[in-house]
Amino acid sequence: MSAPAPFDAIILGAGGAGLMCAAVAAQRGRKVLVIDHAPDPGRKILISGGGRCNFTNLGAAPDRYLSANPHFARSALARYTAQDFLELVGKHRIAWHEKTLGQLFCDGSAQQIVRMLLDEAAAATIRCDTPVRDVSHNGTRFRVVAGDREVEAPSLVIATGGPSIPKLGATGFAYELAKRFGLRLVEPRPALVPLTLGGEEALFRELSGVATPVEARCGGAAFREAALFTHKGMSGPAILQVSSYWRHGQAVAIDFLPQAASGWLRETKRQRPRARLPAVLGEQLPGRLADTLAERLGIASELGNAPDKALEAAERRLSDWRFEPNGTEGFAKAEVTVGGISTADLSQQTMEARKVPGLFVIGEAVDVTGWLGGYNFQWAWASGVAAGQAL
Ligand code: FDA
Repeated sequence: MSAPAPFDAIILGAGGAGLMCAAVAAQRGRKVLVIDHAPDPGRKILISGGGRCNFTNLGAAPDRYLSANPHFARSALARYTAQDFLELVGKHRIAWHEKTLGQLFCDGSAQQIVRMLLDEAAAATIRCDTPVRDVSHNGTRFRVVAGDREVEAPSLVIATGGPSIPKLGATGFAYELAKRFGLRLVEPRPALVPLTLGGEEALFRELSGVATPVEARCGGAAFREAALFTHKGMSGPAILQVSSYWRHGQAVAIDFLPQAASGWLRETKRQRPRARLPAVLGEQLPGRLADTLAERLGIASELGNAPDKALEAAERRLSDWRFEPNGTEGFAKAEVTVGGISTADLSQQTMEARKVPGLFVIGEAVDVTGWLGGYNFQWAWASGVAAGQAL
């Protein structure tokens, strides 16, 4: 085994947060080593946004993030904004576009973002395909045994992300390290993940492939986007968003007609008493969904023969249809992890552990989770910059 090499900082994880942190620290003249067990850096960036990387969101404010401490992300997000990242993207002449809801994507390929980060971090040493075998701390320096080498430095950055999508190299290693260094954990759960339906509701799985715009509500959050029925349950952006707020035993409420005015069904009865519910719903919803909902509402007759009270009840149910998912599709399908290393043990200015000077935690490993739509990368960049400026 070769002699320990001198570095100012060792960053574990060459994802978005680790690479951004390496770039900032190396440009400040720090001698930085990045270690990753995956064969290449930035694998999640490469597959993100359908290969075009939704690299930030123009609305990336702290209220778009979940954390046990909703204020924790404020400082880092204010000091490194979506505009700051756009400047970097502009400097590297990467063309981009806004798709919807402030979500910014590359015109070309996510590879451009990885290339940009590697160029920015050119002064850092990046070792991929290097499993980390041991990490220890003697009170002043961190020692890492990785691959066939041993390295040490006064600073160590945990940037190994969360356990979502293990086949991309994701692990719960950050949590193991946290425990070793006495940092607390907020229970990690799969987030931005499809929900599964069982029992009576499994019948909705027959609608697999049907998508429609809805308002989905859970845990005090509400999202107006598309929902998609799948062969296991429900997905689509609205469902992925509420999944981050969902806990076992809770219901997810769906408004299938979020644009409809109150009393619309009674009004339809007055104007078209001979119309039937499946046809009326089918004017606003996909046919298969309209048929299933009408069947479950049990209004088979012409609207003119249905009592107003029944139509009012149907309308209420359509705007607040309760599903009780029996689970999620788990970390294998989750875009991110909600929970993680507790922010209570970290400085919100620098991401440094309060009780272990020199130890930093950034990116998805931290208990800060963004909504769908570029928010998670913005947190990776912002927390990486905060630590990179402090190393
Ligand atoms: P990240 O997981 O990116 O990096 C961690 C690194 O640590 C990896 O390179 C991994 O190999 C390495 N590592 C893990 N364990 C290790 C160990 N034991 N030893 C050594 N190295 C180890 N977000 C967004 O804002 N816009 C988007 O478009 C998308 N799209 C998207 C699609 C899909 C399919 C997924 C799974 C996720 C997204 N995301 C997203 C979320 C986004 O990818 C995620 O929030 C960031 O990649 C987190 O960045 P980090 O650097 O913290 O972790």
